[in-house]
Amino acid sequence: MEVKDPIEMMKQEFNNYIVPKGWEAKIESLEDWNKFYQETVKDKESISRYWESWAEQIFWFKKWEKVLDDSNPPFYRWFVGGQTNLAYLCTDWQLQKGRKNKVAIIWEGEPVDEKGEPKEVRKLTYYDLWRESNRIAYFLKNRLGVKKGEVVTLYLPMVPELPLYMLALQRIGAGHSVVFSGFSAEALAIRAIDAGARIIITADGVWRRGKILNLKAIVDEAVKLCEKEGHKIEKVVVFRRVGNEVSWNPERDVWHHELLAEVPKNVVVECEKMGSDDTSFILYTSGTTGKPKGAQHSVGGYAVYLYATTKMIFDIKDDDIYWCTADIGWITGHSYIVYGPLMHGATEIMYEGALDYPDPSRWAAMIERYGVTIFYTAPTAIRMLMKYPEEIYLKHDTSTLRIAHSVGEPINPEAWRWYFRVFGKEKTCSSSTWWMTETGGIMTGHYPGRGKILPLKPGTNGPIIPGVTFAIVDDEGNPVPPGKRGYFVITSPWPGHLMTLWKDPKRYIEVYYGKYMHKGWWYYTGDFAMIDHDGWIWVLGRADDVIKVAGHRIGTLEVESAMVKHPAVAEAACVGKSDPIKGEIPLIYVTLKKGYEVSDELRDELRRHLRATIGPVVASDALITFVDALPKTRSGKIMRRLLRAVAEGKPLGDVSTLESEVAVEEAKKAYEIVKAALEKR
Ligand code: WT7
Repeated sequence: MEVKDPIEMMKQEFNNYIVPKGWEAKIESLEDWNKFYQETVKDKESISRYWESWAEQIFWFKKWEKVLDDSNPPFYRWFVGGQTNLAYLCTDWQLQKGRKNKVAIIWEGEPVDEKGEPKEVRKLTYYDLWRESNRIAYFLKNRLGVKKGEVVTLYLPMVPELPLYMLALQRIGAGHSVVFSGFSAEALAIRAIDAGARIIITADGVWRRGKILNLKAIVDEAVKLCEKEGHKIEKVVVFRRVGNEVSWNPERDVWHHELLAEVPKNVVVECEKMGSDDTSFILYTSGTTGKPKGAQHSVGGYAVYLYATTKMIFDIKDDDIYWCTADIGWITGHSYIVYGPLMHGATEIMYEGALDYPDPSRWAAMIERYGVTIFYTAPTAIRMLMKYPEEIYLKHDTSTLRIAHSVGEPINPEAWRWYFRVFGKEKTCSSSTWWMTETGGIMTGHYPGRGKILPLKPGTNGPIIPGVTFAIVDDEGNPVPPGKRGYFVITSPWPGHLMTLWKDPKRYIEVYYGKYMHKGWWYYTGDFAMIDHDGWIWVLGRADDVIKVAGHRIGTLEVESAMVKHPAVAEAACVGKSDPIKGEIPLIYVTLKKGYEVSDELRDELRRHLRATIGPVVASDALITFVDALPKTRSGKIMRRLLRAVAEGKPLGDVSTLESEVAVEEAKKAYEIVKAALEKR
């Protein structure tokens, strides 16, 4: 598979309208769509009215007084004066709606028996969710003293206890900060310290491709790192998932099941009546500095936005089987495994392990096993599956699917077509839904939940969500014509909008609203995009020093600052290199300190170092290459543009500002080394 120029590749699809089989009668004309959309965004009042119509559909302890308070932009407050609770919406409200005995989560562990059948399946009804989250809430509050407003760090794999703890924390008005369990001890420590967490919830281990990963050991390490920084982790709660040996500090560590054993079965912890603009959670994400940012989300606005987008984009009905394959450690899992689907009383699948365990047909087998009707996954996963002969998927019946979207990075039309044909049987509504950690929920896509859809186009992100306005503009903020690359900005507030960055409101304004200050309050996404003649969006990739590795968002500066912590490394520069499967991979140029020699052993050691400092997500895909010097401008800034060009084998462009021509040669040489490394793979 070649990596093609995304602009040209996508422009070829501008007129490729596709009507999925069976949807012929439900196709909406562009005119009708535009009419509907324009009504929702005519002016500020229509925007407010539109979102209010969604707010009216969920439960509130107390109704809002004002839909949107935008008197202090960009600190928007939605449904001001209203009171609700995310746990209440996901559990109590569902029991009231008659879903007490409905299955909420079907969980499958990774291990399989000789016949390939899963060894462990757990089914939790809405009653189970309600009951267990109440019991957890009880000991969090009464045994561990968790208070309203406190933030608890969760470092849990894909087990039902993760959503249970999230719901329990929402119940008592505490916030969660979930750290993806593929992050290292150091990454976990940085996030726990920044969040001010005194409690970490984790598991003994998790199954990954048939092996046990000891999570508790990573937490032990993180706790030590926290202590070194003067931050005390008072309690570590451990869920016994695998039964592996773990080290134990009886003063600090406590088993989840032991805490639970002391709690009566039917205990009820009253839901905190949360203010609409109280905090529901923070989730760390990468930006253009070395320090991760804590995106801070609200209760009411987030709830309404998730309720609305889940309905519109996924159209979940009571008899659907829904499956989002993301990890809850990322925003996709927060929004479209936990809050969105549960608020709608969905039955959903949750899977612990790797997509290719015991073989790449695992997902297809699971779709067949449960009769999945709605599916949500990442382009990287699709491209990974595409490597194998399609017969292995065709052995399994995936014809139950009616909606199959993707998220996380641009989807190349080739992958879209494969997904639509092999998994979707050409009858799914399939869209590449664009959004970010900061937007809380989906911002673009096709809307089957309105009863009609626009025709599909391979690779498009589709139109923007109703009730939201956007533009694709140049550096000055002037709109660029269709088919030309520009920056993607969102020009009106929406309810899922992050409230601020945790403990850093200045950075919040700077990062998202700094670039187009002269234009008013435009939210800068950091993405390049194009618009087509229909007004649909085609996101091309990041415009800043953030890369998407297998859909995971990585700050290149985070990688660099991790690298220079190693005693052998003098300087490091990280850029994204396009990759036919992962989308992008981190390509790291390293210069060594005096006394260190280039060797394969050192390269391996640096990779291990990266694994320990950031985590396996970055380390396993990173290409590390040694150079004698990094190409720099005269003012000493590393020329990333040049490094990227070298990596892509593209012309170098204007190099007149380079420090010296030698550095260019070095970079070219580095390219040759990288190429050789790639060929070896
Ligand atoms: C970045 C945000 C929110 C879901 C998971 C990612 C890229 C996301 C798409 C898409 C093209 C996409 C953007 C965005 N992105 N979805 N459908 N097409 N690009 O959340 O980790 O906060 O990353 O992911 O570059 O800025 P995230």
